Amino acid sequence: MTRPIRAVIDLNALRYNCAVARRHAGVAKLWSVVKANAYGHGLERAVKALKEVTDGFALIEVDRAIQLRSAGMSLPILLLEGFYAPDELPVFIRSRLIPVLHRIEQVRQLVESGWPADLPVYLKLDTGMHRLGFDAEGLAAAYILLAGKVDEIVLMTHFADADGPRGVAWQLERFDAMTVNLTVTRSLANSAALLRFPEAIGDWARPGIMLYGGAPFPQLRSAAELDLKPVMTLQSEIIAVRALAPGESVGYGCTFIAEQAMRVGIVACGYADGYPRHAPTGTPVLVDGLRTRLLGRVSMDKLCVDLTELPEKVGAGGTATLWGEGLPADEVALAAGTISYELFCALASRVPVVELG
Ligand SMILES: Cc1ncc(COP(=O)(O)O)c(C=O)c1O
Repeated sequence: MTRPIRAVIDLNALRYNCAVARRHAGVAKLWSVVKANAYGHGLERAVKALKEVTDGFALIEVDRAIQLRSAGMSLPILLLEGFYAPDELPVFIRSRLIPVLHRIEQVRQLVESGWPADLPVYLKLDTGMHRLGFDAEGLAAAYILLAGKVDEIVLMTHFADADGPRGVAWQLERFDAMTVNLTVTRSLANSAALLRFPEAIGDWARPGIMLYGGAPFPQLRSAAELDLKPVMTLQSEIIAVRALAPGESVGYGCTFIAEQAMRVGIVACGYADGYPRHAPTGTPVLVDGLRTRLLGRVSMDKLCVDLTELPEKVGAGGTATLWGEGLPADEVALAAGTISYELFCALASRVPVVELG
């Protein structure tokens, strides 16, 4: 018998969410962000589903971008961290990969590489995130080096708190101040900005998490309220049922101790499948569509759920939904002190995937 765990990936939901992004983007174009193996959903699968409905794909991994090209992808491909060493430039040129440049050395190296003028270049501006990007002086220097060498320069920035209380106005102001004398194409919004700040979208939006049905600001609006559908549903089965007497514990560390007689279901899913080990007792789980809670420590291959209040017939062979359809990943993430991004990206390669749509 094969282990009953599976991740169901609903490609119709992925396309639906992309249509939601399109609706918010208006006339702006969409880079679908598919880094980190499409946030754990499978790069080829996501690309197959989105290629008719997006304007391009953005990712970090150069080797995966080359694979997409080799497989015949003809849409624009954006490399969000550009190239890491100048010896990658011939590959960028051959595969027509658009780099995001963030350091002046990269600009110099690109200019010296025989870069074709018709292949666009993105320049990243640091407007407050303080990770990557040019300041005003660096931007001016980059422009001088690129003058006459590339036909299209797109200016991009990334928002630090589009999902939080500071919002984006402070970064937009800096962006405008840095680009005041330039007539430019702009790439600004991640999912949070796309959904919250129509003034901060730019010409090319870069939605990621919303495509996969995660809410970028779940404390403010749920995925359902944002009209987003879950794409990944992680499911397994109850492979054993245990009766606990008062005072007995379950799992490593004996962290959960029953205060009354309890029925506990043992689910074939653990941290080696991508379920967060730090999820505490009380984290929501669905069993046969009924809501219950995680008990005790998550182990490598198993976790325990409370069946005490569920009907007697719910037992071994019952379906446990860890997140997805019927149980938003955002809720599980919140209970586990993380974000849906991390849950999705952590899906382990040993979990078989079932595609829908
Ligand atoms: C530069 C850049 N743009 C866009 C995104 C997409 O962000 P989100 O998944 O929050 O929409 C990311 C993701 O981290 C990113 O690094």
